[in-house]
Amino acid sequence: MKKFLVLFTGIFIAVFCLAVTGCKAKSENKTQSSEKPEKNIIVGFSQIGAESEWRTCNTENMMQAANEAGIQLIYSNAEQKQENQIKAIRSFIVYQVDVIVFCPIVQDGWDNVLQEAKDANIPVIVVDRKIRTKDNSLYAGYIGTDSLEEGRNAGRFLLKKYKNASGPINIMELYGTIGSSVSEGRNQGFHEIIDKDPRFSVVYTESGDFLRSRGKEIAENICSESPAGTLKVNGKTIHAIYSHNDQMTLGFLEILDNYKIKCGKDITMITIDAEQSAIDELCRGKINCVIECNPKMGTQVMEFVKSLVANKPIPAVTYVPETVFTEYDALDQIAPRGY
Ligand code: AHR
Repeated sequence: MKKFLVLFTGIFIAVFCLAVTGCKAKSENKTQSSEKPEKNIIVGFSQIGAESEWRTCNTENMMQAANEAGIQLIYSNAEQKQENQIKAIRSFIVYQVDVIVFCPIVQDGWDNVLQEAKDANIPVIVVDRKIRTKDNSLYAGYIGTDSLEEGRNAGRFLLKKYKNASGPINIMELYGTIGSSVSEGRNQGFHEIIDKDPRFSVVYTESGDFLRSRGKEIAENICSESPAGTLKVNGKTIHAIYSHNDQMTLGFLEILDNYKIKCGKDITMITIDAEQSAIDELCRGKINCVIECNPKMGTQVMEFVKSLVANKPIPAVTYVPETVFTEYDALDQIAPRGY
């Protein structure tokens, strides 16, 4: 695996020098060879970072799929910064990779760099999170999660859970990264369902940036201000927490435990991703609903890469299959998650 891995460290001058040499070598090979070797496909992959187990699984899955498909993957870790992703995409263009694959940390701000890729005739596949652009022809297609549906599923679970309850039901929403398509979708889909029922209202929202440490920090601030054994924000008792990812949830749970607040019983907890540790908490009764966000899209991405290299179009939008695990299910039937 390692021989396919080039880690961009931010020293872009060095990368550019390498790139120029690499490109030259590529074109020399083409002219010198009398045979027609099968094309060695090179993909530049810009990943957001390593903020969660989910993300690590997504990266490893992409690398493994590339390896199995005989595709060379140049991997770049943006360490949670959009500017690093833009730099990485620019270096992929200089390197003249065959296809660029990237997980956009936020939705906006990609038009210029994607126009540069288009001008260089390099197709781009957007994975995991969506982008907002004024020209959809700037990228070949999107493959990833249906975050609107994830949000709707969170809302549907609450309707079921509180079917016979009178209101009000006060909800706290732990938001992911502001500006990311997944958090926007998870928020919109959720509201689409709960806003139709006047018993439900989101009384507090805060961004934890998809990080466990932020989940802990937010919980500590709220718990330390709440009366013993309860969770209160702005004078309102919280009955349910809707968290945009497992890592924030797990951090939050850790602090609730310290304050002896019974999550899963006194407070309903809904979380997204379905990492193994969240499923374990579902089985222990501390989480009530886990909505899967499927990180394993690598094989399909590599199929799309091959299509694009062969000048075949790919679908504009492809959603990966996803499921929901709840306290009402046969929990002993859940297969190990692998992340
Ligand atoms: O974009 C997918 C989200 O990003 C996952 O829910 C989260 O865990 C990750 O950091």
